[in-house]
Amino acid sequence: MPAATPAPITVALLGGGTVGSQVARLLTESAPDLAARVGAPLQLIGVAVRDASRPRPGVPADLLTDDAAGLAARGADIVVEVMGGIEPARSLILSAMAAGSSVITANKALLAADGATLYRAAADNGVDLYFEASVAGAIPLLRPLRESLAGDRVVKVLGIVNGTTNFILSKMESEGADYAVALAEAQALGYAEADPTADVGGHDAAAKAAILAELAFHTRVTTDDVSCEGITGVTAADVEAARDMGFVIKLLAVAERTADGAGVIVRVHPAMVPNDHPLASVRDAFNAVFVEAESAGEMMFYGRGAGGAPTASAVLGDVVAAARNRVSGGRGPTESVYAALGVRSIDEARTRYYVNLDVADRPGVLAAIAQAFADNGVSIQVVRQDGHGDDAGLIVRTHLATEGALRRTVDNLRTLDAVKSVVGVMRVEGEAGP
Ligand SMILES: NC(=O)c1ccc[n+]([C@@H]2O[C@H](COP(=O)([O-])OP(=O)(O)OC[C@H]3O[C@@H](n4cnc5c(N)ncnc54)[C@H](OP(=O)(O)O)[C@@H]3O)[C@@H](O)[C@H]2O)c1
Repeated sequence: MPAATPAPITVALLGGGTVGSQVARLLTESAPDLAARVGAPLQLIGVAVRDASRPRPGVPADLLTDDAAGLAARGADIVVEVMGGIEPARSLILSAMAAGSSVITANKALLAADGATLYRAAADNGVDLYFEASVAGAIPLLRPLRESLAGDRVVKVLGIVNGTTNFILSKMESEGADYAVALAEAQALGYAEADPTADVGGHDAAAKAAILAELAFHTRVTTDDVSCEGITGVTAADVEAARDMGFVIKLLAVAERTADGAGVIVRVHPAMVPNDHPLASVRDAFNAVFVEAESAGEMMFYGRGAGGAPTASAVLGDVVAAARNRVSGGRGPTESVYAALGVRSIDEARTRYYVNLDVADRPGVLAAIAQAFADNGVSIQVVRQDGHGDDAGLIVRTHLATEGALRRTVDNLRTLDAVKSVVGVMRVEGEAGP
């Protein structure tokens, strides 16, 4: 007697845009392989969009619906949320879980704002919650943090997780372009939205930093816990000064344990990275995340951080994992926030700094400036001076110092007669040593 064909695993898609249409395409095109990997066929039962009358390449017209609430509550084995935004995405996910569906989402904004509610609903309903695509698109990163490194102790996560800003900074570097020119080019090429605020303001990277920090440090972290500064203040002069010193400027998401090990600091800001650091060569729209763990040492994850097909690849990986759990009766990983480390202020973060000053060119100036650093316990690593006549440019690079001490130093510098203006202050990341 032939073996009975296993019942299909049903999949409902909430969203049929850039990512959703690619998920639908892959579910259809790769159906035989996916069925073999899961042990049961995957059956797409509906795709919810705002405008169901508009044809979508790769999405069968008879599956399109504008009734997202109805589709979410239909009790599919797996609901994939790729609509974006907080509402109605959150309500739809909760209604799907209440109906017994496992949920896959790419929605970093929702996870970083209110992941706890989603985790709780998944636990209450005995379903899975997977979200690999929410950070760094196609790059397998959350599963390694959540599963492969579950036996290690992560010390630091340092990454380029926003392709739009990386593209803009790469253009500023390679073409000497001003920020506004590089942004306009990114918009013309489709790498930046018409309203680029979420990207250039660092908010998208901050949401991803919160998700990474929560998984890395087993501690609940939300967007509000992330200190966030975007790239709008980065100038062509900063980029040039960085280049002269052998650095590039990157927008970094950083999550790290405090020196006492009892806290975690999560921050997003532009920083100078030495040319020989692996993150320095990550260009254009690519993403990369550098993870440092106590036993494993340093690792880097690199690849495409966005785009329909790359992001859909990560979504499909989660669909296969959730579907296998359905077939085997298993469960995916649940929320792990047992460590409950305190989320500390960026004032406690220890990093190196570059300070660019416009100073009067007369004797004693250097001594006064060095004193301002010393008074605040900030030790100077390198000083470079150029210019003649009345004005001189002075660039100071420091050893490790706390953010608070550096801020006090800069406040002091602004009060000195010798200092005409503080032209730029930027953190330096990725250098070894004190
Ligand atoms: N694009 C990427 O590269 C990327 C990468 C990683 C993560 N993500 C995340 O993936 C998610 C989707 O992004 P995307 O770029 O695919 O967005 P998108 O192209 O704007 O697609 C959103 C889809 O959701 C539908 N939709 C939105 N609100 C709806 C509502 N209230 N009811 C019914 N349908 C609704 C839209 O319908 P219409 O088509 O009718 O407007 C559209 O099909 C977001 O959370 C995003 O952050 C995206």
